Amino acid sequence: MFKIMIGPILVASLCFLACDKEKISEDPQITLGRQLFNDTKFDNIAGQSLSCATCHPSGDMDHKKWLLPPISTDSIATPTLFGVIDTPPYLWFGEGSDIKTVTRLVIDSVLQGSATEEELDALAAYQLSLVVPANPWRNSDGSLTTQQQRGKTVFEGQGKCNVCHSGEALTGKFKIQIKKLNPQVDVPSLRWVFATAPYFRDHSAATLWNVVDHYADSVQTVQMTTWGWNTLGIYDISLTELEKTDLIEYLKTL
Ligand code: HEC
Ligand code: HEC
Repeated sequence: MFKIMIGPILVASLCFLACDKEKISEDPQITLGRQLFNDTKFDNIAGQSLSCATCHPSGDMDHKKWLLPPISTDSIATPTLFGVIDTPPYLWFGEGSDIKTVTRLVIDSVLQGSATEEELDALAAYQLSLVVPANPWRNSDGSLTTQQQRGKTVFEGQGKCNVCHSGEALTGKFKIQIKKLNPQVDVPSLRWVFATAPYFRDHSAATLWNVVDHYADSVQTVQMTTWGWNTLGIYDISLTELEKTDLIEYLKTL
């Protein structure tokens, strides 16, 4: 009897210690921020009770478009907030300089509520703590398969994707106009992109295939006006079917 009991008791007390430690190690400001992020109290619009988490569940995204006056005048895609610490400026048109400013804007203007400075700081701290989860498409040691590696070569070579999507977050801290997708848009991060369909701010691409075809349709050439890395200021690529497949396999690992 004693032998049977000791195991669970030991496990229970170890877990108690470990769980307690985990609780203590989270910054209380982040804990408060998570609570507020899930709270509907900032929404002051009659008949509506939105929290941040309604559209950004667990800090991610709802895969929907919303009309959020005065931030956007057209319906626009909800972005994930994973890894958001690395991707200023914020909002599709880059008008949000930092997370606290964007949070204040959403609460004051979109939800027509109000928050104290302390609440805004906690909400910002929580969002800045959201990391990009481990990518399930990568080998367990984080390395790339041969095909994914070929796709990386396309991304950086033939596809010229890294002209705009560069650095660790695969983003660009500038706005640019893609001819078919007016107007100028802040270059979005591509991390976690396998899980963020549909794509583009207007959801005009349902899948990564549609995105790549948009950039590399060999029949109907896609052009992007740029600040001009060639004399014409035109981005023009063409990819074979194999290059497209490889590129997509690589995009899934970001
Ligand atoms: C009704 C859905 C909805 C709610 C509620 C909502 N958001 Fe958003 N959020 C969006 C959409 C849509 C965008 C894109 C708007 C744009 O770029 O014009 C966005 C953008 C953002 C961004 C910019 C991210 C980036 O990478 O550019 C941040 C930060 C953000 N929201 C935080 C919050 C916070 C904090 C709350 C709660 C106070 C909140 N959101 C509530 C839908 C929502
Ligand atoms: C000239 C700059 C530029 C180049 C080059 C470029 N992109 Fe983009 N990319 C953008 C911009 C700007 C957007 C946002 C457009 C929009 O939503 O209206 C975007 C959006 C995307 C998205 C959708 C992200 C999302 O969250 O909706 C993906 C995926 C993507 N690009 C992949 C690529 C790939 C793959 C290449 C290379 C074949 C590439 N990009 C080349 C600027 C660029």
